[in-house]
Amino acid sequence: MSTNLTSLIVAVKGAQDLEEEGYIIQIGNGASVDTVRNLAAEKLDIVGSTANIVLEDAEGNTLDEIDRIRSQKVVYLNTKDSIKSVIPGPTKLPYIGNLYEMMPDMNAGFLRFFEKYGPLIDVSILGTRMVATCDPDIAEVFVKESEYFTKKIKTTLKEIKLFAGQGLFTTDTSDPDWKLAHKLLMPAFSPRAIKVYQNEMGIIAQETIRILEQYKPDEKVEILHWTTNLTFETIGKIGFGYEFGLLEKREAPPHPFIEAMGYCLKQSIVRFSQAQFMKSLPLEMNRRYDREVNLMHSIVDKVIKDRKESEDATDIEKDLLGFMLNARDEHHQGLSDENIRDQVVTFLIAGHDTTANTLAWFLYEISRQPEIEAKVLQEIANVGITHTELPSSEQISRLKYISMCLKETLRMHPPVRMLGKYCQKDCILPGGYKIEADTPSVVHLYGLHMNPKVYPDPYNFDPERWTPEEEQKRSKAAWLPFSTGPRGCIGMAFALQEAKTVIGMFLHRFKFCYDGPAVKYDPKQPTTKPVDLFMTIQNRTDFPEPSADAEVYEPKEASGPTKEMPKLDRSIEMASVKLPPITFLYGSQTGTSQDYASVLSNQARQFGFKDVTLTDMDKWKVLDSGKYEGPTGVNEDRELVVVCTATYNGMPPDNAERFDKFLDKSDAQGNERLLHGLQYAVFGIGNKNWRTYQYFPIKVDSRLDDLGAERFFLSGKGDTDGDIDSDFNDWSAHFWSHTLSHYGLVISKDISVVPSSSTNKEASQAAVVHYISPSDTEKWDLGFNNRNGTHNAIVIENKELQQGDSGRSTRDIRIDVTKLESVGDNDLLYLPGDHLEVMPENDPETVEAVALGFGMVLDSVFEIDQSSIVGLSPRSLAATIKGPCTIRNALTCYADLLSPPSRRILGYFAAQLHKIAPETAEVFDSLTMPDVNNKDQYPEFIKKYRTLLDLQKGFPQVQKIEIGQFMAAVGVMQPRRYSIASSPHMFPKEAHLAVGVVDDVVNGKHYPGLASSFLAHQIPGESKTVLRAKFKSSKGVFEMPADAETPMIMISAGTGISPFRGFLQERAYQYKHASGPVGECLVFFGCRREDQDRIYGDEFDEYVKEGVISGLHVAYSRQIPPSNRKYVQHQVLANANEIWRLLVPADETKKPAVVYICGSGAMSRDVRATFRSMAISFGAAKDEEEADKFIQKLMQDHQYNEDVWG
Ligand SMILES: Cc1cc2nc3c(=O)[nH]c(=O)nc-3n(C[C@H](O)[C@H](O)[C@H](O)COP(=O)(O)OP(=O)(O)OC[C@H]3O[C@@H](n4cnc5c(N)ncnc54)[C@H](O)[C@@H]3O)c2cc1C
Ligand SMILES: NC(=O)c1ccc[n+]([C@@H]2O[C@H](COP(=O)([O-])OP(=O)(O)OC[C@H]3O[C@@H](n4cnc5c(N)ncnc54)[C@H](OP(=O)(O)O)[C@@H]3O)[C@@H](O)[C@H]2O)c1
Ligand code: HEM
Ligand SMILES: Cc1cc2nc3c(=O)[nH]c(=O)nc-3n(C[C@H](O)[C@H](O)[C@H](O)COP(=O)(O)O)c2cc1C
Repeated sequence: MSTNLTSLIVAVKGAQDLEEEGYIIQIGNGASVDTVRNLAAEKLDIVGSTANIVLEDAEGNTLDEIDRIRSQKVVYLNTKDSIKSVIPGPTKLPYIGNLYEMMPDMNAGFLRFFEKYGPLIDVSILGTRMVATCDPDIAEVFVKESEYFTKKIKTTLKEIKLFAGQGLFTTDTSDPDWKLAHKLLMPAFSPRAIKVYQNEMGIIAQETIRILEQYKPDEKVEILHWTTNLTFETIGKIGFGYEFGLLEKREAPPHPFIEAMGYCLKQSIVRFSQAQFMKSLPLEMNRRYDREVNLMHSIVDKVIKDRKESEDATDIEKDLLGFMLNARDEHHQGLSDENIRDQVVTFLIAGHDTTANTLAWFLYEISRQPEIEAKVLQEIANVGITHTELPSSEQISRLKYISMCLKETLRMHPPVRMLGKYCQKDCILPGGYKIEADTPSVVHLYGLHMNPKVYPDPYNFDPERWTPEEEQKRSKAAWLPFSTGPRGCIGMAFALQEAKTVIGMFLHRFKFCYDGPAVKYDPKQPTTKPVDLFMTIQNRTDFPEPSADAEVYEPKEASGPTKEMPKLDRSIEMASVKLPPITFLYGSQTGTSQDYASVLSNQARQFGFKDVTLTDMDKWKVLDSGKYEGPTGVNEDRELVVVCTATYNGMPPDNAERFDKFLDKSDAQGNERLLHGLQYAVFGIGNKNWRTYQYFPIKVDSRLDDLGAERFFLSGKGDTDGDIDSDFNDWSAHFWSHTLSHYGLVISKDISVVPSSSTNKEASQAAVVHYISPSDTEKWDLGFNNRNGTHNAIVIENKELQQGDSGRSTRDIRIDVTKLESVGDNDLLYLPGDHLEVMPENDPETVEAVALGFGMVLDSVFEIDQSSIVGLSPRSLAATIKGPCTIRNALTCYADLLSPPSRRILGYFAAQLHKIAPETAEVFDSLTMPDVNNKDQYPEFIKKYRTLLDLQKGFPQVQKIEIGQFMAAVGVMQPRRYSIASSPHMFPKEAHLAVGVVDDVVNGKHYPGLASSFLAHQIPGESKTVLRAKFKSSKGVFEMPADAETPMIMISAGTGISPFRGFLQERAYQYKHASGPVGECLVFFGCRREDQDRIYGDEFDEYVKEGVISGLHVAYSRQIPPSNRKYVQHQVLANANEIWRLLVPADETKKPAVVYICGSGAMSRDVRATFRSMAISFGAAKDEEEADKFIQKLMQDHQYNEDVWG
């Protein structure tokens, strides 16, 4: 087979030994010079932009045409500045390195070195060697967390770590403590989250203004003192609810914490330039250092202890401390007390000093530039900020010119002057510098921001550098006062919001004047502080009027979600509150979303909403009228719509297709106000195993906005692969808290905002059950025949596919499907790739055990009183079973007895058991919500009590529950899907399934999967082999190419092979019957062992012989001896050329292959990653991001298709 790939050896210019230093790359037909540059750069660890890389032949001639490159054996890489093995820098003295030359101002020392040795220098200070840069391209590489560079606490931060401990600032990226804290704390600092702090920031600015008003107009004030007090109080109050009393009066003494912190921070610089042994000498300096660290720690420990003992202990929304104490990740892991202590110290340090400096420098700079000050004042006037009223976050976000001035201030006076990074893998930097692993690497921010090549006239304060046009001309890494990427400042949005609030309010009230010499920074301080910045503070008398063309600011009610739990006005009586109509829409196929919408609608009624609608998305009245026609003006009248929807392959559920088309109207111009006036919130339901996780809910959320509706509350997401009830509880508790406070409603203790809580009305409701007398033979007959659908499919064969002693079971099940409704074309019942949906049944032993426990007689017939189900979950047995039914049928064909007992069931049982078994009720109650320490005990509980039967055994009191309560609490079982493993042309009347039989063993006990074990137990020929089944079409999602000539690449593991057996049968049929050529089929399959679970192995081997399969590659994960191609993706990679040849054919007249992947979510993700790296290797993409886009494009074109599960 001819491939169109060219192999080249690439090496860095000057390489002596190609065996050792050369790497092979392969390029395809479409490769360009850039492809070669990128591939070679990756192999040779050349980092950063590849634009400066020059390709040369052995003689040093430049190779700038792809054809010339192809004709080479070896291509050498050089850079425009040539490759340098040695990084320049001053000669280092023994022991002290370059310390003397850099003193007394290390910062200035660095600048001198940059000027002398270039943008990358190698320096050493008392044994700490580092490489530092002032160049944006190199800085970009240093700050990007990558395999080459990371943050490791090595240089100056080593000293700060002594008191900031494992806080975010001073912990290595690789440390799990950093990872956890970063993950948990990021959401608390998003621009949206910090909006709730707006008022507090304004109040603290007002308090400071009141103090500054006490100064006489000619009195000199050290302005940094007050900006520091202000920022310290802000972080103390907002972060930890702590007041340091610094703004109480003019002469307020400094807080001991601040003094301690100030001392330690200053000492950190002294200690950095000290020999190691000095730090352990019994000097007063060292003793005081230890005392101050202890003092800081003990103050913070007390703040934490007080909070933990207060009634706000579990309030996650209270402030940052509440968040730290209560936030948990997906594994329910939270921060330890010690870690929280370190974080609090870190936030107190990082959260005030930097912003205080910035404010002081800002006031200084504009006091010297009247024209700039005039523009700043005009902007404040136009936006309508005064010092008497608290500005809103919307006003603050409109201060564009002040943002430009702040950027310029931070450029000239970056509070943090150096970013300490660490090289962890040898590489070649932009500019051609070779750098070795284990080298501390520093971005010298001051040098970067003052680099004249980047900022002409760098010592001139010029906000015009920050117009969007100017900014675009520079590299993003040219301005890094907050650093960037995962290790960038978490508090950037907080700092900027605070700074703008203070500037707006201060300048409205005062004029700050400075008439002394140019102010310098203090080199002995770790942050850039102005020395002796004494200003006078005068009343503002020249504040301008808003300009004529200024957009008048109209305050509007905050509509987004608030992070803060609302404070509810208990004085308002429910009756006096006017509530709008509220509509709950659901897009649901198997009932989850419908259930949640129904729960929310019940809650709405309980809270006093009168006009409540619950309906399918497609039945929403607005779809008929084409636009929202309700009130638009006053907030309280406007309709609120809450959408709960799932998604299927990224598409809408069946009952939301009309709704989806309506959303697409936002593509057309003129529809921006179709939903004007409407308010909405979305809760999305999905499963993370799907690449298209939450696609449709996300679309709903953004398109409703595009159509003019107003987002009332931030959308929520529930993952059915995780603890979806918990996701829903969490979101709805916040949603209701927000809603109730928005409309001024009182939360009653008796009505919980948490849906599954036993205090909810639904939980105390029971269905009314009537038993039917045997004399009513008509109803008895109906009862015996009521089995949740029609039994329509007959099992005709059921064989084991596993061999040897694999210990597992996979069944080959053949089913007569002639009675099913067709989903195929042209008389075919189905198409290859379609699914069969099977309704499982509980086994008789389980059914009997449950009936016995709950005192139900299996062959009695009952009927649910339909008037009693209003308000019950639509997925409850009571709401689902219609008409007479035997208990046996209800427990066999309807009841979900094997899933873990849901929070809803537990809440329900708790409500019923409060009086008769209060202790059990209490246990169940505690499981519906996290406890006071925010520990969610539910996940552990259901490990122990996996099913209703386990619960029955562990808590016999539940058996006191009556039948009506049982029917209201217990849910209905869900159908299961199976990929059809046959072709309708080969087996027109049959559908074959390959069913992996689930058999979980926990603590020695077997838990068979409901549907797979039900199917495995079907004995062909017996009367009970009749199943309830339905076809589900995969058209447009996982269907064979329309044209038989198109090659197919099929990749699967385990039972994921099912649809491919169908595809191959179909191809075999096409071989015999197609008039034209039939495309190649490449098959990749993964299983454990050749002699055990290579299912359908003989059939596939036969297809190879017949030529239906052109290449079959099997990976064995547990073969003895182990194979080096363990998983299917390893086989894919090993056969990349063959795949690429078919996927991107050199001959344009040939049809490109279609790729299909089927099986587990994990496998499909790994295969996708393999395709990404192939795309890079073959030159279709230059990096991961582009490779991802490449695959996305293939997916859009249906050239790469996935069908995945669990
Ligand atoms: C589109 C699609 C196609 C599919 N095609 C196939 C196919 O061709 N072949 C195939 O074999 N499968 C296929 N499946 C998977 C199939 O639908 C079933 O999910 C699978 O058979 C398991 O179902 P079950 O009822 O036997 O197991 P379940 O009872 O649903 O149990 C499955 C797992 O859920 C968890 N679980 C269940 N109950 C509890 C509990 N009480 N406590 C704790 N954990 C619990 C366990 O991890 C258990 O292993 C497909 C799925 C989809 C969505
Ligand atoms: N098929 C059965 O006989 C059977 C029997 C009982 C239960 N089940 C259950 O049914 C479900 C599906 O079973 P199945 O037969 O379809 O698959 P499977 O047998 O569980 O797995 C098929 C192959 O995929 C491999 N694999 C695991 N992770 C992978 C990844 N990230 N990328 C690529 N390959 C990966 C497995 O290797 P390793 O397992 O060696 O890692 C195995 O070789 C599972 O939940 C299983 O527990 C199946
Ligand atoms: C103008 C104000 C600020 C500036 C210039 C600034 C600058 C920086 C810089 C440069 C870093 C990266 C340090 C490094 O790489 O070593 C950083 C990190 C950090 N900053 Fe800020 N900061 C400011 C305000 C704030 C505020 C207000 C907070 C908290 C409320 C804060 C909290 C933090 C934290 C916790 C980190 C460590 C993040 C991590 O690595 O995960 N900062 N800051
Ligand atoms: C065939 C199929 C396709 C699915 N596709 C997606 C998907 O693309 N994205 C997603 O987030 N979830 C997907 N899911 C998961 C469903 O959204 C999830 O099962 C949800 O609980 C269904 O909600 P419903 O019961 O309201 O229909 C899919 C489920 C199935 C069975």
